[in-house]
Amino acid sequence: MTSNSSPPALLRVLASEVLDPPPVWLMRQAGRYLPEYRSLRAKSGGFLEFCYSPAAAAEATLQPVLRFGFDAAILFSDILVVADGLGAKVAFREGEGPVLEPVSAKGLARLSVARVREHLAPVYETVARVRSALDRGRALIGFAGAPWTVACYMAEGGGSRDFSMPKAWMWRDPKSFGALIDLLVEATVQHLAAQIEAGADCVQLFDSWAGVLPDAEFRRYVIEPTARIVRGLKERHPGARVIGFPRGAGAMLNEYAREARVDAVGLDYTVPLAAGRSVQDHLPVQGNLDPILLLAGGTAMQARIREIRRAFSAKPHIFNLGHGILPNTPLEHVAALVAAVRAKP
Ligand code: CP3
Repeated sequence: MTSNSSPPALLRVLASEVLDPPPVWLMRQAGRYLPEYRSLRAKSGGFLEFCYSPAAAAEATLQPVLRFGFDAAILFSDILVVADGLGAKVAFREGEGPVLEPVSAKGLARLSVARVREHLAPVYETVARVRSALDRGRALIGFAGAPWTVACYMAEGGGSRDFSMPKAWMWRDPKSFGALIDLLVEATVQHLAAQIEAGADCVQLFDSWAGVLPDAEFRRYVIEPTARIVRGLKERHPGARVIGFPRGAGAMLNEYAREARVDAVGLDYTVPLAAGRSVQDHLPVQGNLDPILLLAGGTAMQARIREIRRAFSAKPHIFNLGHGILPNTPLEHVAALVAAVRAKP
């Protein structure tokens, strides 16, 4: 399918080529829906320890590619390793998700960008191992959480329905909240640059909670920090390519596509196909099958895959979900998705 001489399909699309079939990978493609992941995970200690074990993390990264033949591998890690590297103590509790020491204005002085690269060295070792094990026809995607989303978990001390803590903080004291965002911008540039240096072919910025912000704050805390990260990364590595995923951006999506300086935009599953096409007037798009439709499978999934392909086929498109794969997704549905994306229309 992919020859050894041309760059991986995903990178060709990021360079604005139109490919038919489009390259395909899935957000959260490594994880609990895979039996081989569950057995590897059972042998490891805590989740972060697993993320910081290069041999195990490299194996988890490669598992979905070996099983399904995706066009790209995404580094096995987590968006919260940057918070951990800054010095906010992060833990993952079984069935509870991430738990952090909540960060407030007073705690900012304890966070330090200087230790991020050193603390996260095992992550870069994982990238290097995966890049040497992965065939050249496939891309290795590095990633980080975008500052707003990581700040959400840091301010809240974990997950939340509405992220009222970071929102109240940003409105009560924009100066100190801005200082947290600045720290995260710097740490994220460092973290992404180190992944590119270790062999990542491109990176994705996950802004999972972009959708909870009104327009002015969306500009200030989603678009601007993203643009600063892309600028900082490209100053160091001009060839670096960045996919932005502003989940829930809604009516702000086109402004994000024009102003955030990313090379492609990940569309969440609520983005109408026509709205996705208008993003394609500026940039390649990635997406956007509903992960619950992958879970459901069958003719509804097949029909929607054809619709998404047809809608986006005239301009650069990377096939993906519109959010991460769910842990109870049947393996056969994932194989059927890959086959359907690669089938002749
Ligand atoms: O396959 C991949 O995509 C690579 C690895 C990856 C993980 N997390 C592994 C993981 C990636 C890209 C992420 C991103 C991530 N992490 C996001 C952004 C994407 C999104 O879903 O919106 C967010 C918000 C997080 C934070 C996070 N990590 C939460 C809220 C949780 C708990 C909920 C859950 O899904 O379990 C995690 C844990 C986590 N990260 C797991 C995995 C495989 C499950 C933990 C386990 O296996 O024990």
